Amino acid sequence: MNPQYPLDVELGDGTPLRLRLATPDDRDALAAGFARLSPESRVARFFTGMPDLSNRLLDRLLDIDGSRHVAIVGQDISRMSDVEQQSTGLGVGVARYITSSTDATQAEIAIAVIDEYHGRGVGRLLLDALIDHAVDSGITTCTATVLSDNTKMIRLLASMGAMPRWDPGDRTVVEFEIPSFQISPHRTLSAAWPVMPARIA
Ligand SMILES: CC(C)(COP(=O)(O)OP(=O)(O)OC[C@H]1O[C@@H](n2cnc3c(N)ncnc32)[C@H](O)[C@@H]1OP(=O)(O)O)[C@@H](O)C(=O)NCCC(=O)NCCS
Repeated sequence: MNPQYPLDVELGDGTPLRLRLATPDDRDALAAGFARLSPESRVARFFTGMPDLSNRLLDRLLDIDGSRHVAIVGQDISRMSDVEQQSTGLGVGVARYITSSTDATQAEIAIAVIDEYHGRGVGRLLLDALIDHAVDSGITTCTATVLSDNTKMIRLLASMGAMPRWDPGDRTVVEFEIPSFQISPHRTLSAAWPVMPARIA
């Protein structure tokens, strides 16, 4: 069952992380997070190097409606936000899914974690939360398209039981499929991570 957001959890190293649902008002937060991605992470996420998020891309990423397009943000609440309006929590990552326009049970997922926080469990946590949300919302298959040299994401997806599908015509990318029957049994956020008392309602 979907947890109530915002949800406060801890990373393995004790870092307090708030998970919350992103909204269309997250424009500044998204731009601030992008600014903290290395050039390599930008390419890994968007398949192209770019100095800034264009307004057009920002519009697309913020076209969040809570069902067809859902995004979960992780904020380190021991640090100050980059964005003035939000008093607590440095945005450290965002994971999203967008359902297929022809089949609402299929969704494409994507994720980015700022480089400073790589390897600390944020990616796994966000992906778990996102897939929990997807399964709960009736999505049966999540797919992810990943550059074939993106070892971190490939290992992360493989460890979640995702199956790679190679396109023989294009070896630069690999598509992963995460069917819900593979992912649902072991995923309960509250069981996997200590939940701290939510500091905001
Ligand atoms: C891929 C990405 C989301 C992983 O996030 P993360 O917070 O570093 O991942 P985690 O710390 O939760 O690690 C999860 C798993 O990823 C893999 N991983 C993490 N760091 C790794 C590293 N340096 N080398 C190899 N594998 C690594 C491991 O399988 C790890 O599992 P473990 O916890 O059992 O060791 C992050 O590197 C990122 O944002 N990259 C740029 C954007 C991108 O590649 N997006 C994916 C395309 S949509």
